[in-house]
Amino acid sequence: MFEWKPFSDKQIRVLSWWLPRSPHHKLDGIICDGSIRSGKTVCMGFSYVLWAMHSFDGCNFAIAGKTVGSVRRNVTSDLTSMLTGAGFKVRELVSRGCIDVTRGAVTNRFYLFGGKDESSAALIQGVTLAGVLFDEAALMPKSFVEQAAARCSVKGAKLWFNCNPEGPTHWFKREWIDKAAEKRMLRLHFTMEDNLSLSPSTRERYERMYTGVFYDRFILGRWSAADGLIYDMFDRSRHVLHSLPALDERAPVYISCDYGTLNPCVFLMWKRTVSGRWICVKEYYYSGRESGIQKTDEEYAGDLGQFIGGEAVRSVIVDPSAASFIECLRRHGLPVMTAKNDVMSGIGLVSSLLKEERIGFMDCCERTVGEFGMYIWDKKAADRGEDAPLKQNDHAMDAVRYFANTVLAPGRKVGTSIIGRVI
Ligand SMILES: Nc1ncnc2c1ncn2[C@@H]1O[C@H](COP(=O)(O)OP(=O)(O)OP(=O)(O)O)[C@@H](O)[C@H]1O
Ligand SMILES: [Mg+2]
Repeated sequence: MFEWKPFSDKQIRVLSWWLPRSPHHKLDGIICDGSIRSGKTVCMGFSYVLWAMHSFDGCNFAIAGKTVGSVRRNVTSDLTSMLTGAGFKVRELVSRGCIDVTRGAVTNRFYLFGGKDESSAALIQGVTLAGVLFDEAALMPKSFVEQAAARCSVKGAKLWFNCNPEGPTHWFKREWIDKAAEKRMLRLHFTMEDNLSLSPSTRERYERMYTGVFYDRFILGRWSAADGLIYDMFDRSRHVLHSLPALDERAPVYISCDYGTLNPCVFLMWKRTVSGRWICVKEYYYSGRESGIQKTDEEYAGDLGQFIGGEAVRSVIVDPSAASFIECLRRHGLPVMTAKNDVMSGIGLVSSLLKEERIGFMDCCERTVGEFGMYIWDKKAADRGEDAPLKQNDHAMDAVRYFANTVLAPGRKVGTSIIGRVI
């Protein structure tokens, strides 16, 4: 059973804005944006169903997330328990993708949609809704949100949005947050202080996890631009080592690889120290373009064999798009793993690993160390409201990210959002 803790003032505003005695009850909706774990979803989900049950009977509503799976994980599993605890009857009709909520003679139906699920866009076209709750709205395609909002044709319908911030030119910021008054929306900005159930130690743990633009967005709740150097926390005095620390001989050895024929091909070898830090102990960097000679997959496989030397390598983690090279390495009997390639969650993770000094680089890894000073956000992508690194001086950076994302990613959220729970 869900156990409520005291509500913060902001949560009380979310719970009560639609009540007739509230000055905001005539507005067309509510937007709660801000920090992760700040208590947005939990009070919005509950308030949404209370409002629906108070204002309508026999109507259809939607609860939308990035995918139907994330709606279940982030919204409806706790919500069902809250509603049951508050005396509602809740019946999930799994095959129809909806939940019926009943109290006394009143029943309403809540359809679950995923903004990124192909089928949802088509399904939502056919229904008439009295309300939509968009959980993590900024992670959904704009077209889906517009289509779902356009289905709200029942009189008195309202839209409910919550999300973590993205870049300042993201479509949700421009279309909904900046135009909240024009669109007759109540906008509330949340920070972790608005969640009274978070212990100081949990809050500190989240604060330690993020750095740079991710700290601004997920901890401070700001719509900050991903601008300039991506790894601005990289510091030669902290991250570049001149002598190898004592290694944990029982720890596995990994190679991570970014493959290219005309573009550079990079191999990085990773070993763990007795204190648990992962060190990139050596690099291989070959550029077909710089040298004027392209190598074949077989030649690269030979170079990789030499690079490995006599080491017992647990896995060679390779860029998933390098299908022919992966095949070639398998033919040579190498233990290949395809890399997890989510760019934003990978960059967020590498940033935290650098901040916490959980990864380091031997000074012989010159190209990799050099790229840390050149790897920047793509300004043109930012102007379009997207986050992306500039595709330049990024090959060793991709190999670092593949290692971190594939071997070191814990079950945690990064942006988008982010590592694990969503990210
Ligand atoms: N009043 C409360 N009583 C009990 N638990 C609460 C309360 N408010 C928040 N929580 C708990 O705090 C955690 C974070 O809340 P919630 O998921 O609503 O935050 P969020 O702002 O939606 O976070 P994110 O941006 O990461 O999705 C959840 O485990 C939630 O159950
Ligand atoms: Mg949430």
